[in-house]
Amino acid sequence: MSLTQLAVAATDQDTPSPRDRLRGRLEQTRALSADLARPLSDEDQVVQAMDDASPTKWHLAHTTWFFEAFVLSQFLPGYVRFDERFEYCFNSYYESVGPRHPRPFRGLLTRPSGDDVRAYRAHVDGALETLFAHDLPDEALNLIELGINHEQQHQELLLTDILSLFASQPLKPAYREDATGAPAGAVAPLAFTAFEGGIFEVGHAGAGFSYDNEGPRHEQLIRPFKLANRCVTNAEWIAFIEDGGYETASLWLADGWSLINAEGWRAPLYFEPAEGGYGQMSLRGFRPVDPAAPVTHVSYFEADAFARWAGYRLPSEFEWERASTGLAERGKTLGAGHLRPRPAPDGPGLTQMFGDVWEWTGSAYLPYPGYKPAPGAVGEYNGKFMCNQFVLKGGSCATPDGHVRRTYRNFFYPHQRWQFTGLRLAADA
Ligand code: AVJ
Ligand code: FE
Repeated sequence: MSLTQLAVAATDQDTPSPRDRLRGRLEQTRALSADLARPLSDEDQVVQAMDDASPTKWHLAHTTWFFEAFVLSQFLPGYVRFDERFEYCFNSYYESVGPRHPRPFRGLLTRPSGDDVRAYRAHVDGALETLFAHDLPDEALNLIELGINHEQQHQELLLTDILSLFASQPLKPAYREDATGAPAGAVAPLAFTAFEGGIFEVGHAGAGFSYDNEGPRHEQLIRPFKLANRCVTNAEWIAFIEDGGYETASLWLADGWSLINAEGWRAPLYFEPAEGGYGQMSLRGFRPVDPAAPVTHVSYFEADAFARWAGYRLPSEFEWERASTGLAERGKTLGAGHLRPRPAPDGPGLTQMFGDVWEWTGSAYLPYPGYKPAPGAVGEYNGKFMCNQFVLKGGSCATPDGHVRRTYRNFFYPHQRWQFTGLRLAADA
C-alpha cells in the first residue's frame, strides 16, 4: 500500500460519515437530558409551578414520544410502542396526531412513574440504535435531526421550568451549587457600533440544520442603525426601577401597562428585596443581584419600556442578524456551566451576541415571504404560532451548546418572562 493509499484508508476510518455524526449527536443529546435530570429527585420531576412550565418528567417523556411518533413508527419496521397510552400523555400540541392531556395539568401526572419514564427512554433509545442498522432515507435522517434539535429546546425548557418550581418553594433550593462562586464582575461601559443601511439578505440558506421558520432567505431593507456592544445590565435596570420606570405610564405600551398594574410587577421575575438591594432566584439558588450581569427574566413589555426610558429602542430581528454577521456563533451557553448570565467582557466590538440571555427584538414573529411549514404533522412545529409573539435572538446560559445560530428565531408572548430573556439597546443612526 502506498502512502497516499494509507492516508486515504486512515481518513475513511477517522472521519465519521454524516450519518455516524448524526448518530453520535443523537446519543449525546439523549444522554444530556438524563444528565440534566440527575440532580433532581423524583418528587422534583413531577410538579408544575405554572401553566407555561412543564415538569421534568414530562419533558423527558415528551422528547421521547417525539422520536416514537415521528421517526420510529414511520421508519422502523415492526416497531412496537412502549405503551400506546403515552401518546395521549405526552403529545404536546399536534392536532393532526390526536387529543392530549391538557397542558396546565401536566404536573398531575404521578403516573407513569419516574421509573416508567426512564424505561420508556431506554426502550426508545434501543429502538433508535436498531434503526441505525437500516438504510435510512433522507426524510428519516432529517426527522432525527429535528428530534435532536427538539430535545435541545426541551433541555433549556427543563432548566427554566425547574427554576420556576424552585423559585416557588420556601427553601429556595439551588439546582446546582456554584463550584466557582463566580464573583461579581466588572462590566464593559455601554458603547454603540454603527451599521450602514441597505438591502440585505436575511434568513437561513445552505447546508446545516435550520427550522422551517428561518426561511426562505430573502431581502430586507435595513436603515442605518446602531447597536449596543452588550446587553442591558442589572445595575441599569435598577436605575430604571429607582427612577419610577414601573410607575410611569408614558413609557409603556397599553397592554404592558395594564399587565404590570394587574399583576403588581415592579421588577423582573424572581427579584426580591434583600440586604438593602435585590436578590434574585437562580439555578444557583437565591443570590444577590450582580449589578454587572445582564438583566434577565424580563418580559417584552418591560424590555420595550426600559428601552424607551433609556432613549433607545429594541433592535429588529433583521438588524440583530445583520450585526451578528461574521461573529462566531458561540458564547456563554449551557456548556460554559454558569447556569446564569454573566457580565460582558471589556473589549472592542459586540459581545454577548450568543449566550447569556435571549434578546427581545421589536419584530413580530411572522412568516417570512414565501414561508411554507414543513410537510406532515411536524408542520405544526412552528408555523401555527405565528401570531401575537415576538422574536428573540442569540440563545442563553441554558441553551445547549451548538443549538443556536444567527438566523435562529426563538419566540415568546410579550408577557412571558420565565425564560432567560433580556435585551440589547438599539437606535436609528
Ligand atoms: C420555540 C421555545 C417557543 O417552547 O414550544 C418545543 C420550542 N417546540 N417543542 C416551545 C418547542 C416544540 C418552543 N419555543
Ligand atoms: Fe416539544
